[in-house]
Amino acid sequence: MAATDLRGRDFITLMEFDREEVETILDTAHDLKRKWIRGEPHRLLEDKTLFMLFYNRSLRTRNSFEAGMTQLGGHAHFLEPDAVYTPALPGEEKAYSTERISDVARVLAEMGHGIAIRIYGKHTGWLYGKGNLLIREFARWSRVPVINMEDDMYHPCQALADVMVMQEKLGHHLQGKKFVMSWAYSGSVEKPLAVPQSAMIGASFFGMDITLAHPKGLDLDPKVLEFVKKNVKRNGGSFRIVHDMDEAFKGADVVYPKAWTAQPTDGKTPMDPEKAKAIFEANRHWITTGDKMKLTNDAIYMHCLPADRGMEVTDEVMDGPNSVIVEQAANRLHAQKGLMALIL
Ligand code: CP
Repeated sequence: MAATDLRGRDFITLMEFDREEVETILDTAHDLKRKWIRGEPHRLLEDKTLFMLFYNRSLRTRNSFEAGMTQLGGHAHFLEPDAVYTPALPGEEKAYSTERISDVARVLAEMGHGIAIRIYGKHTGWLYGKGNLLIREFARWSRVPVINMEDDMYHPCQALADVMVMQEKLGHHLQGKKFVMSWAYSGSVEKPLAVPQSAMIGASFFGMDITLAHPKGLDLDPKVLEFVKKNVKRNGGSFRIVHDMDEAFKGADVVYPKAWTAQPTDGKTPMDPEKAKAIFEANRHWITTGDKMKLTNDAIYMHCLPADRGMEVTDEVMDGPNSVIVEQAANRLHAQKGLMALIL
């Protein structure tokens, strides 16, 4: 078996894959994107079914998975937790309104070829790690691959699309390019840590020089930061943390400013909305403007969307020539097709 045979693998975080495997997924994604542009058929998953369970709302993730499965010759089945018996962890069941995850996962696995799940935020009481735990419980019981469509720790499908865009805009080899993951202000504190953590994990495979910028009190998960530090070392990049947005932006090739909440990552203490709000309001100046973009090395501006215009970023930047937000969203389709073609 080749080292990059990924058939049957779960996709919960990129931290469980090595560089060769990540590159295989991305190469497949670029290849399928070219086929799609040229109108060449690529029905690699004929008659296969992906079950998608969305606890949270979605524009990009749902539609890219649905369209992607159609283009690959299969079908993606949309499930709302309230329309089925809401999947629950042992000890959290309620008579006749929930069903234990072990039963849900085993039943769906008999009917299709993959199970994809999105869960974070109010559905897990803003307790860091609970959504990831639930997805891993599905993976424990399902005999078909489980895909993380965003939990409270990771958004690995977004990270694949993000790396694809950087490869398209900056050249396939991203070695030595300066990548800035920055916090940005929002009027809402209901923002998981999944995107910034996954974006840095993704960039760490490609020898990029990563800067993480945030005000004090908005720290990310130390376990993720430790992985990023080790992975950049292994792949020839660097990693630093700063607490000043302007300092971070200086000379950057890529800026990715977005809000994430102030949250304990011990898995025991839920997010306190009032404490988080106080930190957010003290840092309203963390907004990406045209003047801040002038500090960069003509950087591309990235955001996973949806963005809070006028808070995280100005319209001038969002709709400006360096913005690649639509390309990022579009690449969700191609990245996930590459992934599904390999694992399902
Ligand atoms: N970026 C992203 O996951 O978008 P949706 O919430 O619309 O799926």
